[in-house]
Amino acid sequence: MADLFIKQSKQYAVGRPGYPEKLFQFIASKTASHDLAWDVGTGSGQAVRSLAGIFKNVVATDTSQEQLECAPKLPNVRYEHTPPVLSIPEIEQKLAPKSSVDLVTIAQALHWFDLPSFYQQMKWVLKKPNGVIAAWCYTLPRVNNSVDTVFDRFYANDVEPYWDPARKLVDNKYKTIDFPFEPVSGEDNTGPFEFATERLMDLDDLFTYIRSWSAYQTAKEKGVELLKDDVMGAFKQAWNADGGDGQKAVIYPINLRIGRVGN
Ligand SMILES: C[S@@+](CC[C@H](N)C(=O)[O-])C[C@H]1O[C@@H](n2cnc3c(N)ncnc32)[C@H](O)[C@@H]1O
Repeated sequence: MADLFIKQSKQYAVGRPGYPEKLFQFIASKTASHDLAWDVGTGSGQAVRSLAGIFKNVVATDTSQEQLECAPKLPNVRYEHTPPVLSIPEIEQKLAPKSSVDLVTIAQALHWFDLPSFYQQMKWVLKKPNGVIAAWCYTLPRVNNSVDTVFDRFYANDVEPYWDPARKLVDNKYKTIDFPFEPVSGEDNTGPFEFATERLMDLDDLFTYIRSWSAYQTAKEKGVELLKDDVMGAFKQAWNADGGDGQKAVIYPINLRIGRVGN
């Protein structure tokens, strides 16, 4: 799985959205202290800059060295290349001691993980009882009626066969993902809580985003170009339908699951 993110790591770094400060402020308001955060499946560090502004230290890990090489270098962030499943001794030696982490974040990546072993490790490394785990995903970007119609048709008809089955968890906005944690203070459930991130994008940016999908990479490996001329033509017509062919405000809806480890 992780291999799918290696080949398009440069596209990934420019093609993917960042996340709003509101999201990080909400999450950070639920942790008892702000000493250490661990961003798992960090990719090219889409969540790292904001975490580094709030937490004294950040560890950011990924199974793809190529992704990590595209991540921002910051004085209080340590990047580590890891295998897909870590053992407790590996965590202890390379990443963090037992019960030492205030916050684990997983941005657009939890659906790729082996959840039972991952959760066991997170319960070991998080501070007890108030260490927080926050995992979010974003669904299809929304532009306007005409672009959204073309995008939804493309996603359902052309792209669907090339997604890993785990993508369904994202389509379901993480409502159905296993998340065995207690509600954080001030909340009576673990979400999903809704946020949104906005980017100014032109049509080429939208195509770069599509090329950063694992499904795009899978299709390409099977000899299928998803962004064929007719598809790009339909997107172009829809993009220009409002009379503007330049940048537009594009919204990515975000769904957050957040919980604390308990005792
Ligand atoms: C869709 S990307 C998300 C990257 C980034 N967090 C973001 O918000 O855009 C998923 C990332 O998870 C990484 N990944 C996949 N399986 C992993 C695992 N078991 N442990 C750590 N990282 C993993 C991939 O290499 C990839 O960089």
